[in-house]
Amino acid sequence: MTIWNDLDAHRRAHADRPITALFAAEPDRAARRSTQACGMVLDWSKTALDDRALDLLLDLARVVPERREAMFSGQRINETEGRAVLHTALRRPAGKDRGPVAVDGRDVLPGVAETLERMRRFATRIREGKIAGQGGSYTDVVNIGIGGSDLGPAMAVRALSPYHDGPRVHFISNVDGADAHDTLEGLDPGRTLVIVGSKTFTTIETMTNAATVRDWMGRAVTHPADQFAALSSALGKTAQFGIDADRVFGFEDWVGGRYSMWGPIGLSLMIAIGPDRFDEFLSGAAAMDDHFRDADLGQNMPVMLALVGLWHHQVCGYPTRAVLPYDQRLLRLPAYLQQLEMESNGKRVSMDGADLPRVSGPVVWGEPGTNGQHAFYQLIHQGTEIVPCEFMVAAEGHEPDLDNHHKLLLANCLAQSQALMRGRSLDEARALMEAAGLTGDELDRQARHRVFPGNRPSTTLIYPKLTPFRLGAIVALYEHRVFVEGVALGINSFDQWGVELGKELALSIAPLLDGDEAAAVGQDGSTLRLAELVARMRADG
Ligand code: F6P
Repeated sequence: MTIWNDLDAHRRAHADRPITALFAAEPDRAARRSTQACGMVLDWSKTALDDRALDLLLDLARVVPERREAMFSGQRINETEGRAVLHTALRRPAGKDRGPVAVDGRDVLPGVAETLERMRRFATRIREGKIAGQGGSYTDVVNIGIGGSDLGPAMAVRALSPYHDGPRVHFISNVDGADAHDTLEGLDPGRTLVIVGSKTFTTIETMTNAATVRDWMGRAVTHPADQFAALSSALGKTAQFGIDADRVFGFEDWVGGRYSMWGPIGLSLMIAIGPDRFDEFLSGAAAMDDHFRDADLGQNMPVMLALVGLWHHQVCGYPTRAVLPYDQRLLRLPAYLQQLEMESNGKRVSMDGADLPRVSGPVVWGEPGTNGQHAFYQLIHQGTEIVPCEFMVAAEGHEPDLDNHHKLLLANCLAQSQALMRGRSLDEARALMEAAGLTGDELDRQARHRVFPGNRPSTTLIYPKLTPFRLGAIVALYEHRVFVEGVALGINSFDQWGVELGKELALSIAPLLDGDEAAAVGQDGSTLRLAELVARMRADG
């Protein structure tokens, strides 16, 4: 606790010090307060971190190396589920050779390589049209999954669209029938490959969507098995659903759902961009793994991103953080990171079950720039809550003929972090208004509305171009950041018990909506009334 107390005291002592004063005192601050890895630079100079804060935070991170090696070497660090945490093994074939990774004395790497090779063969033959549907080579792929079985591939498929040279890829996740309906519209069942991705093969949303799509198939094709593949550890259940064993790609319990896109759950991405590009994606993540394991804590990008996060949330008390990619193709990155960060670190007890002494979280949200600027940046600049912002941008776009767009995008990204830090004082606001011809009462009345308090922190991640390698590195950066924050807080970042209660209650409420009066027993008044209202509205049409 004393490190936290020291951090709190340090923060209190300097709460009013402007970030700009740190730049004035430290001429090389921008270079000193940034970290490099995998061809990317993370600039964290526009935060209030100084030497003392940094020393204390690095002290906090001293426990990380031991836990990190426990994770990489296959120890069961997910203690509440009794599981190892080895998503990094899925990309190990693309990284440094560091010998076997054993779970219960068995090296998992040969199995990883074998599954990757099977995926590679399957994806290649689909892309070449050698594995085809009843109506001919596949023109479309539909991935059905939710949470970790959807967000990763959905995010990455969009992010890497310049590299697509395979069939079109679509995603159905929501149990809302609208999702299946709208996605399937216009697709040819005989030329569509449906990939059902579910680690457990029991998730109600996914199984409901899979059954609906099988019915849709069944009306048009005589042998639906030709149109399906599965990504799952539950081989008995995939067989029961009618998916041939040679089209099932399994993974083990040491791969958590939200960490699973590096293996079979990434099949739709592999089909879209091809196995070689998928290897580059794995290589980027493996390069970040190597950096995370080898770099000193103070030069370690995931560690530094985590320490900035801990400083802002646990020490400064800022309740949320915004992820703001100035990269349209990273549209789904905030949603992906919401699961990664909030399902991992949204906990209330530490590993041993005791109440956490600090807040956990934080809430993560965001939207690509520049669109966000025209929506919620008002609050970020002038609202009463401070929102630390995590900007990210590529130096170069994929559209050389539209480089004017890209330069504007870059200028906007840099301008926003500058504006947040610098702000605009009352005097500056008045001077600008006077120059625009305002005077007297009107000027007085309006001036305070034009003030920007400034001193609002942000980080900026700059990378050359959003390639498969770079995307892999960015995602692994965030995975390890979450890990470091979890270790510093003493929590288990790899379980997700908090999603269970709602799932259970949905099962008990569903019969109520079918008019089963027995299901009303034990329900609260509000739920009963809402169910009645639903019934009435449905009856009224
Ligand atoms: O929402 C909880 C969760 O278990 C996530 O952790 C997981 O990514 C998602 O459900 C989907 O699970 P499955 O892959 O087993 O269908």
